[in-house]
Amino acid sequence: MITEAVAILDFGSQYTQLIARRVREAHVYCELIPWNAPYEQVERLNPRGFVLSGGPASVYDEDAPTLPDYVLESGLPVLGICYGMQLLAHALGGKVTPAGEREYGPAELSVLALSSPLFAGLPFSMKVWMSHGDRVEVLPPGFVALASTANSPIAAMGDEVRRLYGLQFHPEVVHTPYGGEIIRNFLYNVCGLKGMWTAASFVEEAVARIKEQVGDGRVICALSGGVDSTVTATLVKRAVGERLTCIFVDHGLLRQGEAERNLERFRRLGLNVVFVDARERFLQKLRGVIDPEEKRRIIGEEFVRVFEEEAARLGHFDFLAQGTLYPDVIESASAVTGTAPRIKTHHNVGGLPADMRFQLIEPLRYLFKDEVRQVGLELGLPEEVVYRQPFPGPALAVRIIGEVTREKLEMLRAADAIVTEEIERAGLGRRVWQYFAVLTPVRSVGVMGDGRTYESTVAVRAVTSQDGMTADWARLPHDLLARIGSRIVNEVPGVNRVVYDITSKPPATIEWE
Ligand code: XMP
Repeated sequence: MITEAVAILDFGSQYTQLIARRVREAHVYCELIPWNAPYEQVERLNPRGFVLSGGPASVYDEDAPTLPDYVLESGLPVLGICYGMQLLAHALGGKVTPAGEREYGPAELSVLALSSPLFAGLPFSMKVWMSHGDRVEVLPPGFVALASTANSPIAAMGDEVRRLYGLQFHPEVVHTPYGGEIIRNFLYNVCGLKGMWTAASFVEEAVARIKEQVGDGRVICALSGGVDSTVTATLVKRAVGERLTCIFVDHGLLRQGEAERNLERFRRLGLNVVFVDARERFLQKLRGVIDPEEKRRIIGEEFVRVFEEEAARLGHFDFLAQGTLYPDVIESASAVTGTAPRIKTHHNVGGLPADMRFQLIEPLRYLFKDEVRQVGLELGLPEEVVYRQPFPGPALAVRIIGEVTREKLEMLRAADAIVTEEIERAGLGRRVWQYFAVLTPVRSVGVMGDGRTYESTVAVRAVTSQDGMTADWARLPHDLLARIGSRIVNEVPGVNRVVYDITSKPPATIEWE
């Protein structure tokens, strides 16, 4: 049982996910709940406090999201952020007015109430990030102003008896350097929580929950070797032991030695894995296909087919375990319409069909990627799995520009192995987010020995990134690039030119496709 949780009511701010990140970083479990979701969703969580997110509306708009009655009726502590603060003020008899101009960007906050538990241990003055149109003009009865900025006389407010707080600025963004501590103060000092949500407690709860859900049923799981599916399978295995069967499909688009390495690792983890060699089948389907989206579609569909056939062959299964993560769940649920979360097609496996007869087990459904890695370490998974670089589900098929053939796959695998080996040997493996080779369709003239060549160009891509959403090209040492270049042209037949991609994302993407 989760003993400490808070509910974050989502009013549609683009930063809501970040609030959840900050709360989790304080080791407190939380879930994002659409503001208009049925109360049962909140009740199930048994929260010890509420956070109200920001949002694009104005409390005076006709269809503006409203504060659900249960929030104030609960008597629990509340932290309203931006729109959340305005909602609190509006509901409790304060006055919200449109500020003459939208305030956006950094501001200097002066703390007025130094004894407030919300600002305990923090400096009197700090940088904060503002992004609002409306603001609280008149405090509701019982509230005092806790902090101000030049433009917002009431930049923070509180009723310390009822434990209700509001912040006009965004504590959840990196531009508010003490924001994480303000949130932590709310959780620890105001809600009285201790921060008991850890990877170890997660594993214990998840295993107990899976046990209960599965009973004496049988579970099947598609294993790719990536961190999400490996952690999922390991958790399920702890819960139900031999009643878990994993399927690992080799679609022939994996990196050099990857299938063998995966199988060896699965064996060491004690997972019961059925290996399916579907290399020929995928190659056939991809023949003549050039369009990258088409490649993705074909690979996704074929994967499902192989998986279904294999599952049917292995007998009856009641459950399907999937490594869906929280960002996928959040993206699929619309806070504004409050529609129930839809299971997003698992992009790694191309989307398993909706009409599968299995019930889903998704133990990572409420975790962020870095939390999954922590859980992986807790489960004793090797670091090379836990910190594996992201790898697209359609794999090398999207790194070959143009038609995928056996020969091209071999060239790309050999070139990619050199990139990987050299970067890891230079000790840069963990500092670079992703590094790989791309086989371009460009052929050009070269000279080798005494002869003229007309051969392929390999592009090397290495990027630094925090989350894959934005990225910069890695400033790899020139000597290292030189080694990679000369090894590829010398060791990979059919390649006479190597180029290094020096574009950031945006405007480029990480993959080439
Ligand atoms: P782009 O190329 O859009 O990629 O900058 C962003 C990140 O996503 C990874 N990627 C995928 N990951 N399934 C995945 O799990 C996929 O189908 C897929 N396609 C791209 C890519 O490697 C990069 O890290």
